[in-house]
Amino acid sequence: MKKTLILLLFIASFSACKQAPTKPKVDESKRGLIVDNAMVVSARAEASKIGTEILKKGGNAFDAMMATELALAVAYPSAGNIGGGGFMVYRDKDGNIGGIDYREKAPLAATKDMYLDEEGNVIPGKSTLGAMAVGIPGTVAGVFAVHEKFGTLPIKEILEPVVALARKGVVVTKKQEARLKRFQEPFAKANKDSILFMKNWKENDTIKYPALAETMQRIMENGRDEFYKGETAKRLVKFMQDNGGIMTEEDLAKYEAKWRTPVTFEYDGLKIISMSPPSSGGICLAQIMKMVEPYDLHEYGHNTLKSIQVITEAERRAYADRSYYLGDPDFVNVPGDDLIADDYLKDRMSSFSFEKATKSSDVSHGKVQVVESNETTHYSIVDKFGNAIAVTTTINATYGSKLYCSDLGFFLNNEMDDFSSKPGVPNMFGLIGAEANSIAPEKRMLSSMTPTIVEKDGKLLMSVGTPGGSTIITSVLQTVLNVHEYNMTMQQAVNAPRFHHQWLPDVILFEPNSFERATLDSLQQLGYQINEDRAPVIGKVDGILVLDNGKLEGGADKRGDDTAIGY
Ligand code: DON
Repeated sequence: MKKTLILLLFIASFSACKQAPTKPKVDESKRGLIVDNAMVVSARAEASKIGTEILKKGGNAFDAMMATELALAVAYPSAGNIGGGGFMVYRDKDGNIGGIDYREKAPLAATKDMYLDEEGNVIPGKSTLGAMAVGIPGTVAGVFAVHEKFGTLPIKEILEPVVALARKGVVVTKKQEARLKRFQEPFAKANKDSILFMKNWKENDTIKYPALAETMQRIMENGRDEFYKGETAKRLVKFMQDNGGIMTEEDLAKYEAKWRTPVTFEYDGLKIISMSPPSSGGICLAQIMKMVEPYDLHEYGHNTLKSIQVITEAERRAYADRSYYLGDPDFVNVPGDDLIADDYLKDRMSSFSFEKATKSSDVSHGKVQVVESNETTHYSIVDKFGNAIAVTTTINATYGSKLYCSDLGFFLNNEMDDFSSKPGVPNMFGLIGAEANSIAPEKRMLSSMTPTIVEKDGKLLMSVGTPGGSTIITSVLQTVLNVHEYNMTMQQAVNAPRFHHQWLPDVILFEPNSFERATLDSLQQLGYQINEDRAPVIGKVDGILVLDNGKLEGGADKRGDDTAIGY
C-alpha cells in the first residue's frame, strides 16, 4: 500500500509539473547583456544611456521612465514622441502593480463618420496622413503623471540630458538612413513646407534638433501645462489648424492621463501583468495564453507544426473577440473578466483539432454577456530597488501622420486610424473593428500595445513589450513562451523567428526564411494559408529577465538598433 502511494506521488509530481523532464537546458552562452543592479533596454542606445545615467544617480525606474521616454522622442523620431501616446505597466519593489494610460484621444470635433465620403465609403489616407489623422497627444501628461506619483529626482535633473541631446544631435544609423529614404514621398505629401527630415541624411551624419530642444526646455521649466495650456499648446493648435486639422486649445487643456488597473492572470505558475483597455493587449494576451495553457508546448518544441497550430488557433479566436468587444472602457462596457474566464476559453478552443485548420469564416466573436451595450517603440526598465516598468509608446505609423511641426520640432501621430472608421473595413494593420471601437469625441482608440510584466513565485521575472501594430500581442506572447516553455535566454527569446495570426485576414504571417519548409508545407496541407512575403519585421521586442542569481539579462531585438545598457 505504502509502495503504491509513493509510486502514485512520484507519477503525480511529474504530471503536475508540465515543464518537468523534456525542457531543453538554457544555453548560458546565448545570454544578452548581464548586469548586477539596474538596466534600460530601448530602441536607441542614446535613450538607454540617458535612462541608465538617471538610475546610476540614484533615480528610480519611474524617473528613468521619464528620461527614457523623452530621450526616445529626440533619438528615435519615427516612434519616440511627444506628439503621440502610450501605456505603462509597473510592478514596484514591494510587488504593487498598476498601469497608466496616456493614449491619445479623439478631438472634441471628431465624429463617427469623419473618415467617410458621402456614399459612406472610407476616404483613403484621411485617417493616416496629415492633420485629420491626429489624436490629442498624451505623452507629456503621461510622463508627468508618473513622475508626480513615483518620481524622486527633480524634473530638471531628468530633463537636462534630454535637452542637451536634442541640441548636440543624434547620429543617423544605417537602419534610420534607410527608413528616412522610404518616407520622403509621404513627408512631402503631408507637409506644406520642407521639413528637417527631407534631406539626404546618411549613416553617421548628426541630426540636431534645436526646435525640439526649445520645446523640451520650456516643458522642463514650466511643467506639463506648458504642453497642454501654455505657449507650446497655442503654437501647436495654430499649426494644426493651419494644416486643416480640428484640434483646439480646449482639446489640449482637457487631456488627462489615466491610471488603470492592469489585466492579471496565471499561466503555468507565472503571474502575467499586462495593459488593460483601451489597449486590447492584456485581454487578448490573457485569452491566447489561457487557451494554449492546456497543451504541452515545450514537448511539441519551438516553432514546430503542433506549437504553431495551437498558438495560431488561439490567436484566431482571441482576435475575433478583440474586434467585437474591445474599445475605450470609459465609453463602452468591455466584458473583460468574462472574456478571460476559464470556462469561456475552454469552450472557445473546443472546436480546435490538430487534423485541420479552423476557418476564420467559421469563427465569430464568442458569446459573453455584455451588461450594456507601424511605428511604435517599447522599453523596459528595472532599477536597483527592484521596481520594474514596461512602457510602449507610439505615434502609430512610422513617423505618425508624417505631419511635422517644424516650429516645435516633433511629428504628430496618426492614431485616429486605430479607431474603426467603418465596421468591417480594415485599418492599416488589417484589423477590423465594430461599434465598441467607433469614433466619438474624447474617446480613446483601441490599441494593441502590450507592455507586460511577469512574476514567478511572487518575484519579478520579466519586463517585456514591442511595437508592431496588430502583431504586438503575438510577439509578446511568443517571447514569454520562448523563455518559459522553451527555456531560451532573454536575448534568444527576442531574436527568435516569429509568426502571427489575427483572425482576419485568415493567413499566418511568418518571418521570411526563418521557418522549416516542411513545417510550412504541413501547415498548408492542413488548410492553413501561409504568407512569408511581408516585410521581415514582426515587432522589435525589448525585455529584461531576472536570473536565478538576481542579475538582470537584457534582450534587445536584433531587428532594430535596440540596445540594453545597465550597471
Ligand atoms: O496602438 C496600437 O496598437 C498601434 N497604434 C501601434 C502601432 C505600432 O505598433 C506600429 N509599429 N510598428
